[in-house]
This record gives sequence, C-alpha cells and structure tokens, in this order.
Amino acid sequence: MGNGMQSNEDPAAGAGRGWGKDLLGLRGVGREAILQVLHQAQAMLPLATEKRRRWEPLRGRVVVNLFYEPSTRTRISFELAARALGADVVNVTTAQSSVVKGESLVDTARTLQALGADLVVLRHPASGAPHRVAQAVRVGVVNAGDGTNEHPTQGLLDLFTIWQLKGRLEGVRVVLVGDILHSRVARSNLWGLSAVGAQVGFCGPATLLPRPQDVPGVRFFSRLEDALEWADVVNMLRLQRERQVHGYLPALGEYRQRFGLTAQRLRRLRPDVLVMHPGPANVGVEIDEEVLADPRSAISRQVSFGVAVRMAVLSLWCGQGELSR
Ligand code: NCD
Repeated sequence: MGNGMQSNEDPAAGAGRGWGKDLLGLRGVGREAILQVLHQAQAMLPLATEKRRRWEPLRGRVVVNLFYEPSTRTRISFELAARALGADVVNVTTAQSSVVKGESLVDTARTLQALGADLVVLRHPASGAPHRVAQAVRVGVVNAGDGTNEHPTQGLLDLFTIWQLKGRLEGVRVVLVGDILHSRVARSNLWGLSAVGAQVGFCGPATLLPRPQDVPGVRFFSRLEDALEWADVVNMLRLQRERQVHGYLPALGEYRQRFGLTAQRLRRLRPDVLVMHPGPANVGVEIDEEVLADPRSAISRQVSFGVAVRMAVLSLWCGQGELSR
C-alpha cells in the first residue's frame, strides 16, 4: 500500500502507484489503490484547511474545470484542492463557451489541450463522456460525474468519511437509499466499498433499483426500517428528478413516507449510525431538516473532506501521470 504519510516535508512521498493519466471510475480499481488515496487524503487534511501553502506539487500546472451540468460543491472543491496544491485553475461553464456554438466535447478538450491545460476535470450528462475524451487527448481527465455512470471522487470521499468517522471500512454495513438506478454516486460507492471489503445494501422503490443479478453481493431492502436496522452507515441519495422519465416514481409525499429519513425515523436510529448524503439534498423529501442538524449526520464533514480527497487524487496523479514526464 502506498503510504507517504510519515514525512511532513513531502506528503506524497511513496505516492504514484496504481493511478495513471486519468481517473474515470472506481469500477475495477483495487483495494490497494483506493487505500492509497485515503491515506494520502489523511495527509492532505491539515494542508486543506491551512491558508499558507507549504507544498505545491501542481505549481505551474493548469487544471480546467469543464462542467456541462450545474454543480456547487464538486466544482468548488476541485478548485480549492487544485489551488491548495499550487495549480492555476480555469473554470469553464458551457453557457459561456463555444459549446453553445456547437463545438463537440472532444474538440473542446483538444482546444483546452492546445491552450496548455494539463488536467481536465469533466462533468457531463452523458455516461461515458470522460472516457471518450480521455482517449482523444494527452491531458489527464478526472471524471467529476458522467450521466448515471460514475462519480469516482464522490465515492472516494464517501469512503474517506466512513473510514475517518467509523475507524474502519472492512465489514462496515453501508446502505444506499433511494434512486439507485439513476445515481452515479451509488455506482461509485458500490465499486469502492466492495473493493475495500465493506458490505453494501440498496433500499428504494423497486422501479429505482437495479436487478439483483446485476449486482451480486448487494443486499436488497424494500422497507427502510429493515435497512436502518441492518446498517452502520446510511447514505441517503437525492431523487434525481431531472434524469427520470415518467413513471418511475410514486408521489413525492408517498416517497417521503416510505423512503425518507424523517425526524420520526431518526428518533429510532441507533446512536452510532452515521448518516450521509452527497448533496444537494431535497430537504423534506428524502431527508428531513432535523436530520441535517443531528450529531449522527456527517453531511457537512463529507463536504469538507471532499477537498482533502480531491487534493489526494490530484497529487497522486501528478506523481505518476502526464506531469511526471
Ligand atoms: C451528486 C452528483 O452531481 O452526482 N452531487 C454531488 O456531486 N455532490 C449527486 C446528485 O446530484 O444527487
């Protein structure tokens, strides 16, 4: 396992194994490579909150955030992470770019490469878009969410949060609740958690769950009460209303009643259960206001840890990817 954690001089000493030019997903990524990121993120924690920069492995490098979908926390967190490591950061939102003039995604990425970008952080509504770009350009590509496919840095920060707050990952029971079918967060969680030996459960309306035979090893719950009884960690997913075609969903009120983490359900939750949500939350639908303020909620810590985890990804990438040449 990579661990460069001993030295204060160079938190990334020993880094760079297992990660190549791109980070496209967690599917197929092994335990060692995931643990390497988590240890690196732990080393990044003090640097993430410090205003004075001590270590700038990305100095002189250009990171471009190319976002074709709205985002608050993911984009800002990549920006803060890249800046904390000394990079120059450019934010491209598609409304202000030539995308509105019909430039294709690959052309846009080639243009960014010609302009001197070293790494493109890409969010796109089409599943597979980052993979297509990664094949077409020499610059590194980090997937910041592609359609319903994956959101690897969210998966890593969810793992990091569990590891930090539960003290372990192996054997931890994590239930993902809600719209699993449309959730790239659920998919990245599933691959990441399985790789490190956690147990994964899915709970939601039958129309929003994958087929059990497609995800062997996952426990299915049709009643939230049973899932809450089983789980050490409850990860509440946002209802992805924008990705649903009609017919998947019962009325919102009914959804809340069956699958919402309500104040009433919170009162029956074990004191050691961790509640997570990737955000943005539909407060009053999948999660109640009271849950956000409860000490069992790790939601704001997930956001803070996100910066350290993205710093880990970026610093590991520059130890091994294109930049090391
Ligand atoms: C998620 C996303 O965009 O995939 N949000 C995030 O990145 N924190 C989850 C969501 O939109 O529900």
